[in-house]
Amino acid sequence: MATSIVTSIGLKSLPLVAQGKVREIYEASDSSLLLVTSDRISAYDVILENGVQDKGTVLTLLTNHWLNTVLPEHIPGLKHHLLSLNIPSTLNVSPEERQRLRGRSMVVNKYRVFPIEAIVRGYITGSSWAEYKQKGTVHGLPQPGGLEQCQAFPSGPIYTPSTKAPVGGKDENITPEHARQIVGDKYADKIENLALAIYKAAHAYALERGIIVADTKFEFGLDEETDEVVLIDEVLTPDSSRFWPAADYAQGRDQKSFDKQYLRDWLTGQGLKGKEGVSMTEDVQARTSAKYLEAFQRLTGETLDQALAKLEQ
Ligand SMILES: Nc1ncnc2c1ncn2[C@@H]1O[C@H](COP(=O)(O)OP(=O)(O)OP(=O)(O)O)[C@@H](O)[C@H]1O
Ligand SMILES: [Mg+2]
Repeated sequence: MATSIVTSIGLKSLPLVAQGKVREIYEASDSSLLLVTSDRISAYDVILENGVQDKGTVLTLLTNHWLNTVLPEHIPGLKHHLLSLNIPSTLNVSPEERQRLRGRSMVVNKYRVFPIEAIVRGYITGSSWAEYKQKGTVHGLPQPGGLEQCQAFPSGPIYTPSTKAPVGGKDENITPEHARQIVGDKYADKIENLALAIYKAAHAYALERGIIVADTKFEFGLDEETDEVVLIDEVLTPDSSRFWPAADYAQGRDQKSFDKQYLRDWLTGQGLKGKEGVSMTEDVQARTSAKYLEAFQRLTGETLDQALAKLEQ
C-alpha cells in the first residue's frame, strides 16, 4: 500500500484526550473515543524518530480481527469496546484527515478503565525470568524449581497483573491478590478468568499459524450501566504481546522477537541501544515493516491490502 508513514496524527477537529507512545486518543462524543494508532515504534523503551510503514494499520486491523472474528467464536458473550473502524459522517473531520485515519482508527465505547494491566504469561521470559532467577517467584507467585528460560509454565498460563502507571511512569508487577485489592472483589475473578480464557484461545489459534503468543497484556473497563467487564484497548498485537516464530522456538535461551529483532540487532550493532533521537535507515524500516505485515497475514489469513479494501472509502 503506497500510503505514507504517519508519525503524528494531530487532528485539528476533535479534542485530544491523551497521547501515548504510539496512540492519540480523541473525544468522539460524550460516550465514545477515537483511538488512533500512529506508525511510531519503540525499542529498548525509546521511540524512534521515524516510523514503520503500515504499522498503525496492522495493529488496528489485527485488533479488529481478534475482537470481531476470532474471539467471539471461542469466548461466547465476550463484551468489547470496538464500535467501528469507520469515522462517523457526523464527526467534523476534514477529508484529508479522514484519509490519514483510514485503517488506523477505532471508534470505541468509553468505559471506566480498571487501573491494572491484565497480563497473562504462557512462558517464562523478560521480567518474570529475572524475578524467578533471583527469588523463585513470578509476580510474587512461587514457581516450581528448575524452569529454563522461555519454558512454558508447566501448569499452564498464569495471570500476572501489573499496576497501570500514569503516562511516563513505569508499571510495577504485582500479585493477583494485590490486583484484587485494586479492582475490588466484585470484578477480580471476572478479569482474571477472562484474561486467561482469551489468552488460551489466542495462543492455540496463533500456534496453528506458526506464531507463539508468549505473553500478552489486556486492559478491561467497566460498563457502569450494566456492571459488565468489557475488553478494551488494543488486543493481542505485537506491541501488547510477545510473538515468537514457532519454527525457531527452543527453551533454555532467548527467543527472536517476531517483529522488532532486526531493529534491535541494528541498534545494538550501531551502539545506539537506548539512545534518544535515532532514525532508522530505509533498510531497517523496510525489514521491520515486512515483519509486521507477515504477522498480520499469518494471523488473519489475508494481506493488509485485502483487509483495507473491506473498509469504507
Ligand atoms: N474503551 C476505552 N475506554 C477508555 N479508555 C480506553 C479505552 N480503550 C483504551 N483506553 C485507554 O487508552 C489508552 C491507549 O493509549 P496508549 O496505548 O497510547 O497509551 P498507554 O498504553 O497508556 O501508554 P504508552 O503506550 O505510551 O505506554 C490507554 O490508557 C487505555 O487505557
Ligand atoms: Mg497502550
